Amino acid sequence: MGDDAGTRPESAPSVADLERGRLEFDRRCAVCHGRRAEGVIGPNLTDGASISRAMAAADYRAVIADGVPSRGMPGWAQIFEAPTIDALTSYVWSLRNTNASGGKPPQGDFTLP
Ligand code: HEC
Repeated sequence: MGDDAGTRPESAPSVADLERGRLEFDRRCAVCHGRRAEGVIGPNLTDGASISRAMAAADYRAVIADGVPSRGMPGWAQIFEAPTIDALTSYVWSLRNTNASGGKPPQGDFTLP
């Protein structure tokens, strides 16, 4: 654990965090991203492509917290406490490169690690 432990969702999230993230994702995000995060209005979150600047988990967290309002992605920092944003980030981050079947074709020019 480094000095920034707890602010780095990519550092081995707990099963409880992932489960919590999945629950909130089903409630609040699936309407646009699909229940399997395969992409509907919003992009597929299970491919290796990123439409925004997002390259690392910290960038993903910023997209989730602040949103991209001009492009239809709401910001969630006013809705959720920080630990829930962390859990959502851990969950969504864990889905990248899992390539849900029948998912929306990749969008964006950035590649996720
Ligand atoms: C009203 C529809 C909508 C909802 C609800 C929504 N999103 Fe999004 N989301 C989008 C759109 C549209 C984009 C693409 C934004 C862009 O073009 O930059 C996006 C982008 C993203 C990205 C960046 C993807 C990339 O390829 O860079 C992440 C991560 C994300 N959303 C996570 C979430 C999470 C987590 C939630 C729930 C807390 C959520 N979204 C809820 C519409 C939505």
